[in-house]
Amino acid sequence: MTQIRKMNILIIDDDPTNLKFFSYLLKAIPDVEVICFERARDALQWSEVNEPDLVLVDYMMPEMDGLEFIASFREIPGKASIPLIMATADADNDVRYKALEMSANDFLTKPVNKFELRARVSNMLSLRQFQLEQVNRADWLAEEVRKATAAMVLQEKEIIHRLSRASEYRDPETGAHILRMAHYSKMIAKNLGLSAKDQELILHAAPMHDVGKMGIPDQILLKPGRLTDEEMTIMKTHAAIGAEILDGSESVLLKAATEIALSHHEKYDGSGYPRGLKGDDIPLFGRIVAVADVFDALTSSRPYKPAWDIDRACDLIRDSSGTHFDPACVQAFFSTWDEVLQIRAKHDE
Ligand code: C2E
Ligand code: SIN
Ligand code: SIN
Ligand code: FE
Ligand code: FE
Repeated sequence: MTQIRKMNILIIDDDPTNLKFFSYLLKAIPDVEVICFERARDALQWSEVNEPDLVLVDYMMPEMDGLEFIASFREIPGKASIPLIMATADADNDVRYKALEMSANDFLTKPVNKFELRARVSNMLSLRQFQLEQVNRADWLAEEVRKATAAMVLQEKEIIHRLSRASEYRDPETGAHILRMAHYSKMIAKNLGLSAKDQELILHAAPMHDVGKMGIPDQILLKPGRLTDEEMTIMKTHAAIGAEILDGSESVLLKAATEIALSHHEKYDGSGYPRGLKGDDIPLFGRIVAVADVFDALTSSRPYKPAWDIDRACDLIRDSSGTHFDPACVQAFFSTWDEVLQIRAKHDE
């Protein structure tokens, strides 16, 4: 087994002669540092800021005895599994049971035999080295997993970005619309108090809300005028088509995108599509995206309509609070109006 670093052995004994004896014997072990204390309290203080690899503690001491020391030592963060040996007189069986309960790892019988001392200390140091190697291995593995996951997340975002672009290719909605509505969605999520993770999730999932429009024929999608009822019925299938395109993935991002595609045209009063869900039955991300999407659709030009001025769009959003939109989402949208204007300015056509 390779030595990771010098092993610190902490020795506590109220008798200076014993300390010298232990110290002399243990210093003979290669790559070992010995730290001695006559008072248990001083040893505890040292342990607060240092990392012993092995503790050798006497039982019978004035002020604080060995058992009290072990109890306090194990409470110090990171000290729960550091190997610990207690030295007791042969007769102290009760003490030994108590020490075991407090997770002492081994005992030495006083008077201490030097061969026994070396043997037990060596065993405990091997245990400690094994522990340290396990920790290193766990850290290394965690780092590798983190790197691999980061790479996957990047790839996932790129694929999704390209999927959004594919839908823009035919859709008269521009990339700027997609960016604006994604950022409005994130802003609303933030103002509603959603976690930073959910804010990122909605930012990257919202751009896919209309991928289902890929399944709508050109003569409807690109029609310069108003849609007939029949055409609108076909148009409305884009929500379910989008969900079908995105559904069935293990990806958290695609799951959120599926939910958004399916629910972004639901209305708070139950009059939306495709399922006619009402109130909080509509997934929260769908309720958020509805406000962001309509606000941006209104203030953008479409083949079928010119862009509305911003006041008119605001009036419609406010008037539709509680009917089309979740009032909490409308309030969250207007609560940081400067940010709406910033997003508009930043993602201009
Ligand atoms: P979109 O253009 O992205 O519009 C998204 C939503 O914004 C619409 O969902 C609607 O709730 C709101 N919206 C957009 N423009 C207006 C408007 O002028 N007045 C009002 N009151 N609301 C508006 P909706 O209605 O479910 O439409 C879904 C999609 O169907 C639209 O996405 C668009 O691609 C298409 N569409 C809707 N109406 C027409 C139309 O008259 N002609 C054409 N060619 N397409 C339409
Ligand atoms: C996207 O994820 O494709 C758009 C959101 C953004 O990164 O601004
Ligand atoms: C959330 O409440 O954090 C997410 C809800 C949703 O996905 O709509
Ligand atoms: Fe849509
Ligand atoms: Fe849209």
